[in-house]
Amino acid sequence: MALTSKYLWRCLGIALLALSVTASHGQELASTPSMGWNSWNHFRDKADDATIRAIAEAMVTSGMRDAGYVYVNIDDDWEGVRDAQGNIQANAKFPDMKALADFVHSKGLKLGIYSSPGLKTCAGYEGSYGHEEQDAKTFAAWGIDYLKYDLCGMRDQMKAAGSPEAAHNMMVNAYLKMRDALQATERPIVYSLCQYGVDSVWEWGASVGGNAWRTTYDIRDNYASMVEIGFSQAGLAKFARPGHWNDPDMLEIGNGGMNLQEYRTHISLWAILAAPLLAGNDLTHMTPETVALLTNKDVIAIDQDQAGKQGDRVSAVGPMEVWLRPLADGGAAIGIFNRHPGSMKATVDLSMLGLDHASKVRDVWAGTEMTPMKGPMVFQVPGHGVVLLRVSRQDPQR
Ligand code: GLA
Repeated sequence: MALTSKYLWRCLGIALLALSVTASHGQELASTPSMGWNSWNHFRDKADDATIRAIAEAMVTSGMRDAGYVYVNIDDDWEGVRDAQGNIQANAKFPDMKALADFVHSKGLKLGIYSSPGLKTCAGYEGSYGHEEQDAKTFAAWGIDYLKYDLCGMRDQMKAAGSPEAAHNMMVNAYLKMRDALQATERPIVYSLCQYGVDSVWEWGASVGGNAWRTTYDIRDNYASMVEIGFSQAGLAKFARPGHWNDPDMLEIGNGGMNLQEYRTHISLWAILAAPLLAGNDLTHMTPETVALLTNKDVIAIDQDQAGKQGDRVSAVGPMEVWLRPLADGGAAIGIFNRHPGSMKATVDLSMLGLDHASKVRDVWAGTEMTPMKGPMVFQVPGHGVVLLRVSRQDPQR
């Protein structure tokens, strides 16, 4: 009897240990989509230590940190050469990565970095191929909190694999290898896969430990690129869940290539898609309009909704699309998007969307509340713009 209970206690201990290891590396990371900033869209290869420090400071003073943006992510072009032991060194732009991480952490923020599973990164620098454990250890020792792992150079290696199956296995194994290496460091590091949606990554991204996976090629700062990416996400909702998100790429808000209505479409759609919100502009030079776009509380609450259910398209008629995201309070976010350049009328019938018990409707961008009506509600939607509604229910059904 004593032996049996000792055995049971030991089993319980092992089970608890296994649970705590899972918890420290899995679900609680990115339990809502990650929010932060990334250097690529605006700075490309020009970001250096001073840039990152200035961005971290601006993240605090602009109110973005308090709105939820915490990751400050260095993209490609930080890499130097490996030392005699094979340890990756930063280039001259980043003289002391550990000191930079300490600085970013001292602001209540987290630091992210970039690498490739291939021999080379997209910009032709040293990738992590063959050095996965060593690089993960280096990143952890520097104090890195987020890794964007960009397929890039590995695509050439995959071409030589002989068959599509062999190429797929090479890619999957490479992502698994870095997942294991990151887990072995015991530092919680968000693992963000970047391989542009190759081989329907949404179907297997979570199984290789991805907290997020890019679903498309790179976004550019114009309306055509943004909507091509954003609206092509229809049908992917079922693959996202807390800890594992579809990533339609970083934000272009504030970079100047779209007008106010277009940038509203951008962030509203990304919030409905439960997308990571990684600003891609120069945070040290923002207009009040850009700050307002990035820090709108209602939009962020939709993106970060605790139920973690991604939204999807419910209708598309001509240039008008209606998207709906179910929310934890039993209500929903509804985006009425007008893809035509001129203003157009649209009608939405809440009962047809399963929201006939709506008690309150907030027009997010107008900042107004309205009483829900039975039957069709008519909205005027600006050209390339959106009416974003947050609908609350009287009798929350979870
Ligand atoms: C790829 C990625 C981009 C960026 C660049 C850097 O194109 O998709 O987001 O990281 O590489 O070289």
